[in-house]
Amino acid sequence: MHVHQQERLWLAAGLAMLVLFAAVITTSAVVDGFVPPSRIQSIDPTKVAQTPPFDHPGLRKIADGAYEAYYVARVFSFSPAEIRVPAGSRVTFYVTSTDVEHGFSIPETGVNTMVTPGWVSSVSHTFKQRGTFLLVCNEYCGAGHHLMAAKVTVE
Ligand code: CUA
Repeated sequence: MHVHQQERLWLAAGLAMLVLFAAVITTSAVVDGFVPPSRIQSIDPTKVAQTPPFDHPGLRKIADGAYEAYYVARVFSFSPAEIRVPAGSRVTFYVTSTDVEHGFSIPETGVNTMVTPGWVSSVSHTFKQRGTFLLVCNEYCGAGHHLMAAKVTVE
């Protein structure tokens, strides 16, 4: 098969770019330790129940109108199952998984992150509207995936 000289050049240039991109990603992951966004620190997934603050998941008030919420995700539930905050509160969620990849999403808000065993994911949101928000797992994690949900009540 005859491949035109210029086509061969373009193929070589394309291949060179793929190799370059793969090298950049590998270097930043391995050498610089880059991780996907919202995963802020690592944790031993087999010791979540003994690792503060995840040994007592739940809501902590850090200032007026500012909260931190620590969640443990496991097949097929979130702990805590419900938190209650006053309207206008800014809540920073910290979530980790003890088993498989889960999702952590509150539709209608910007809260949406993957929850990877071995990592703590974090995302913040200010809840201006009163109401009960459904917090769902949006990564397929097994037979009970559709049952995996919790509630955020803004009062
Ligand atoms: Cu957890 Cu789907």
